Amino acid sequence: MTGAEFQPIEDRLDERLRDYWLDRVRMHTQDSYAGIGMSKFPEDLRTYDHLLWETDANVVVEIGTQFGGSALWFRDHLVAFARYRPRLPRPLVISLDLDQTTARDLISQVDPDYESTICLVPGDVRDASSAIAIKQEVPPGSRCLVVEDSAHTYETTSMALSHFSSLVPSGGCFVVEDGCVDIEEMRLDDAWPRGVLPALDDWLATSASSGFERRRDLERYGLTCHPRGYLQRKGVIRAAEDRYCTFCGLRMALRS
Ligand SMILES: C[S@@+](CC[C@H](N)C(=O)[O-])C[C@H]1O[C@@H](n2cnc3c(N)ncnc32)[C@H](O)[C@@H]1O
Repeated sequence: MTGAEFQPIEDRLDERLRDYWLDRVRMHTQDSYAGIGMSKFPEDLRTYDHLLWETDANVVVEIGTQFGGSALWFRDHLVAFARYRPRLPRPLVISLDLDQTTARDLISQVDPDYESTICLVPGDVRDASSAIAIKQEVPPGSRCLVVEDSAHTYETTSMALSHFSSLVPSGGCFVVEDGCVDIEEMRLDDAWPRGVLPALDDWLATSASSGFERRRDLERYGLTCHPRGYLQRKGVIRAAEDRYCTFCGLRMALRS
């Protein structure tokens, strides 16, 4: 958006929410982090901050690296939190994509030493060997947050859930991104794929999902690209006081 196109919020208050949504979703595909392309709503990034903290995650497994901006964002936020909880294993982002050439190039330009904290794995989410390769990278004792952000089709969503849900520990989260593609009024472009929410609903109806619950309340900032996509594995994070996060109700781990 150019300066001339920018409209302050007070001039937009009569706009329909749907028009505002379409504007925001158009904008988020042009966004970046540290100069690297990253397609995330600020509202969803704040939710991720809460999830990383409240689920005690030290590892993010991301499916769909693209330019690498989101891998870098997750890494930086895990590293920031590691300062406050040194008892956890080292922070690490493990990110999968069909081809990692561009992400390697872009991330190394801003952080030449990225490889100790970001592991870029080439591979296909539909291929079980990709999950095996990723599991081998997870440091012992880690707690993973899994983010599915690949092709947003029925097949890739199903495969991501089947191959990667076992990485989510008790109390941890699996986020299936961009379910907005399956809600007609939220679609920006006819070229958008479809199949995320049908695949997710079908998986939730199987016994493989029995440990998980859908957390619609985590969509609390209102605008999200991931409607119906926030899942949590039931169970407490670990023996903890009976304290609950005021943001999302996740049971909080006892912090020393
Ligand atoms: C929406 S982009 C990821 C955006 C990035 N996570 C971000 O937030 O900026 C989707 C990525 O998934 C990758 N992808 C598509 N199909 C895939 C598959 N079968 N396995 C792994 N990655 C795939 C694409 O190459 C593309 O880079």
